[in-house]
Amino acid sequence: MGLLDNKIAIVTGGARGIGAKIAERFTEEGAQVVLVDIDQESAEAHAQAISLKGAQAAAYVVDVSNTDAVKELVTQVVKRFGRVDILVNNAGITRDGLIMTMSEKDWDSVIAVNLKSVFNFIKAIARPMIRQKAGSIVNISSVVGLIGNGGQFNYASSKAGVIGATKSAAKELASRNIRVNAIAPGYIQTAMTDKLDEKAKNTLLELIPAKSLGRPEDVANAALFLASDLASYVTGEVLRVDGGMAM
Ligand code: NAI
Repeated sequence: MGLLDNKIAIVTGGARGIGAKIAERFTEEGAQVVLVDIDQESAEAHAQAISLKGAQAAAYVVDVSNTDAVKELVTQVVKRFGRVDILVNNAGITRDGLIMTMSEKDWDSVIAVNLKSVFNFIKAIARPMIRQKAGSIVNISSVVGLIGNGGQFNYASSKAGVIGATKSAAKELASRNIRVNAIAPGYIQTAMTDKLDEKAKNTLLELIPAKSLGRPEDVANAALFLASDLASYVTGEVLRVDGGMAM
């Protein structure tokens, strides 16, 4: 018996990093997963790797910031699987820079991929979930959405927006038995943070009481809890997975 037996889950940005680990963890608990990513090669490779372990995974190539494409994707997934029980809005990008020199393009693209995507998916999935009278949505925010970060004006704004979106959707959808929660990871070891130089990493470690970076599985386990019935009375919550960084 798994925690997610027979559940259908969409995980955006599921080709690598945190999203890939969330997808893997969900399938270990019995879910079928739909990986949504713009990186076709990695998404297909990861879906195949999961399938080789005997679980079910399908890859879809969609840009999460494209409203029409997301609507079409959700329609296709509902048609193919009959329902969607879990949505994890995980896809995200950084385009770091100081406010004074940040281009409009870098602002727009980060807001589109990190925040508009959450609007796109929740809007598209609300109706099927309401029809099912059940659903669990997990949005991946960040600790910088809670505490801000110099050099990440666009990214921190998008992640703070994700928290507002989470709480508003949680209030709207709670009476329909749909829970909406967020996770605020701290610094997790993935391609996104591999870009940091040693000096920046050491400075960050100073800020983390646990004195280590987190792993994608740390976030995946939190997502599993929030997605599963273990969290059946939890909604509108922002769960930090950050080694104590933002407490
Ligand atoms: P990553 O860069 O390793 O993976 C992101 C995935 O999203 C990639 O597979 C990428 O192809 C996909 N993606 C990017 N743009 C897309 C688009 N427009 N449409 C569809 N897919 C797209 O990043 P990582 O570290 O795994 O991050 C996952 C989430 O966790 C992001 O939302 C990130 O902001 C958040 N996060 C990460 C932290 C970290 O320390 N790594 C800390 C806090 C939050």
